[in-house]
Amino acid sequence: MNSPVEDPAATVAEVPDPHDPYPFFAARRRAGGVFHGTVMDYSRTPAELRPTNTFAAVSWSAVNQALRNGSVFSTQLYDATIGVFMGPTILAMNGLTHKAHRNLVSAAFKPQSLVTWEPEIVRPICDKLIDEFIAEGRADLVRDFTFEFPTRVIARLLGLPEEDLPFFREAAVAIISYAGNVPRALQASKDLKEYFLERIELRRSAPADDIISNLVTAEIDGEKLSDRAIYSFLRLLLPAGLETTYRSSGNLLFQLLTHPDQFAAIQHNHGLLPQAIEEGLRFETPLTLVQRYVTEDTELDGVAIPAGAVLDLCLGSANRDESRWERSEEFDIFRPRLPHISFTAGAHTCLGLHLARMETRVAMEALLRRLTGIALLPDGDPHIFGQPFRSPTALPVRFDVV
Ligand code: HEM
Repeated sequence: MNSPVEDPAATVAEVPDPHDPYPFFAARRRAGGVFHGTVMDYSRTPAELRPTNTFAAVSWSAVNQALRNGSVFSTQLYDATIGVFMGPTILAMNGLTHKAHRNLVSAAFKPQSLVTWEPEIVRPICDKLIDEFIAEGRADLVRDFTFEFPTRVIARLLGLPEEDLPFFREAAVAIISYAGNVPRALQASKDLKEYFLERIELRRSAPADDIISNLVTAEIDGEKLSDRAIYSFLRLLLPAGLETTYRSSGNLLFQLLTHPDQFAAIQHNHGLLPQAIEEGLRFETPLTLVQRYVTEDTELDGVAIPAGAVLDLCLGSANRDESRWERSEEFDIFRPRLPHISFTAGAHTCLGLHLARMETRVAMEALLRRLTGIALLPDGDPHIFGQPFRSPTALPVRFDVV
């Protein structure tokens, strides 16, 4: 265990290297599982979107406990933040309404669907992307690969034409980074609504084998989803499916490229990929925090939290909790397997987790099958940046062809 610290920084914006929040998380954990303050950097957030009374959970047990108690720690606060741009989504719903809506859309994300998506959609997309750069003997694996494949996969799953990729990728990024530019996010939200309304109409008259067609025909107690419910869900799915998956696969590649012995073991035995993917998600959590609204006066890990407070649940910190993992600050694909919390827990556990895992495995398998001797270029100096979304901005590599 680490020695206790007296006075850790009050917010992540105060730490010496804001690109690396992990020393801040560790200091906060040593001082207790929950504190009055925040792990968000609100320095660029407009005042009207900043919560006034914030608490943060940083230990595994506090984060896990809060995620599993949705009536006290509610997602309803998303209606006033990301919901302004996405509309009413399952993310902000609770109780039976959430359950009913989630049941409707989750059929499309079950492991059985992945059995056909893997060979028919994901593998061909990964191979086509590699075709585009393989002759060069070098690539930026973020720009040329990890940033590209999740967008193309989700576009295919939704049945959207490839020429629309740049439009909806830009709109998705504008929505998810709303805090930095609210007018741009509002415009993106409006553009996506109009775009999806056209696609919904198209699928209503000519259903196909894609997620939009499934949503158009889905029913709850004989009631169909409204157009608003469908395009709002689609506005959630785009950033949910793109941002996290491209970041987690970039993070995994970064860790493997900077731990060549572990990378070599995987190149020798692709069967190690699933445990490497889980360790990548634990060690470099792509989305380091989610938030909850506190609906009643309560207590978490001995800290009193009043009704009306906003609680940060720091997944990135929980995933490095030294009381759960030995050598928690080390990347080690061979460590004994214990579930991480990168997809959260409880009712709002990520709906796309099987898809995300499969996409990452297939993408890595494609790289390992076709390229060998993959190594970072010495002048590239890649780093993982960001909070709460984290990933490398570039991964310039050279390689040989198998
Ligand atoms: C490595 C990749 C991914 C990570 C780390 C991730 C992470 C998360 C997290 C942390 C949440 C919960 C948010 C909260 O509780 O406040 C969530 C929810 C969700 N995710 Fe993912 N996600 C990933 C990939 C995907 C993909 C590929 C899709 C779909 C294409 C997806 C769709 C969703 C949806 C629809 C929800 C809302 C579930 C609900 O509220 O019931 N995610 N995800």
